[in-house]
Amino acid sequence: MAATAAIRDPAAHARSLGLDPARLPRHLAVIMDGNGRWARKRGWERFLGHRRGADTVRAITTECVQLGIQRLTLYAFSSENWSRPPREIAVLMELLAQFLRSELPVMQENNVRLQAIGRLDRLPAEVRAVLDANLAATAGNTGMVLCLALSYGGRDELVDACRRLAARAARGELLPEAIDTDAVQAELYAGDDVDLVIRTAGEQRISNFLPWQAAYAEFVTSQPLWPDFTLDDLRACLIEYQGRERRFGLV
Ligand code: FPP
Repeated sequence: MAATAAIRDPAAHARSLGLDPARLPRHLAVIMDGNGRWARKRGWERFLGHRRGADTVRAITTECVQLGIQRLTLYAFSSENWSRPPREIAVLMELLAQFLRSELPVMQENNVRLQAIGRLDRLPAEVRAVLDANLAATAGNTGMVLCLALSYGGRDELVDACRRLAARAARGELLPEAIDTDAVQAELYAGDDVDLVIRTAGEQRISNFLPWQAAYAEFVTSQPLWPDFTLDDLRACLIEYQGRERRFGLV
């Protein structure tokens, strides 16, 4: 992420890109796909794609701050990603730690509050330590929430929510018939509704990402592989989103 000293008026920035600032997604979620293919196309090892992908994370996060988007959730590491080769997992964890170390001053400058969702207890201790430090350091910030989905699976999230509800019921604090959508949502890692999901690399799958929160989200597929995804590609996705009619099941 880069500092944003140059732009202080998100609405003017959005308008300069041909976007309606009043109709930007409040919560944008991104499935950053295609790092491996990006590297393979060049005959390189997959981890080099992840490294370049981390640069895209910085650029896109900064642009979302500048646009005044309130919440950005990035699918950085899924529950299923634990099954990848140990070396690739190690590189991803190191990139994550590096990102957290290098971006803290920028997050502070941009008033970004970091959040993390997932089974964080599975993360290596050194990643957990820098993550916890950044969560604490940015807890008072009031600007965009940057939410990293780490060791995250949507089904795991629902299972964990069910366990917490069941434990409360077993303690006699909750009647089963009092469990409604609000009660389930309140037990999610973070229940904020998603307005737009972008997936890169031309894929059209949800892949266990925010199944509850994205129930009424618009889904936009972008063709570039994540390391090649530019600010112009983000703009194109936002234009497409603004052209959609959101009906939320109504007529
Ligand atoms: C999918 O590409 C991407 C991931 C599994 C990880 C995303 C991680 C990053 C963008 C870098 C580190 C993150 C942060 C927040 C600094 P893939 O490997 O599945 O690509 P492929 O489908 O082409 O093989």
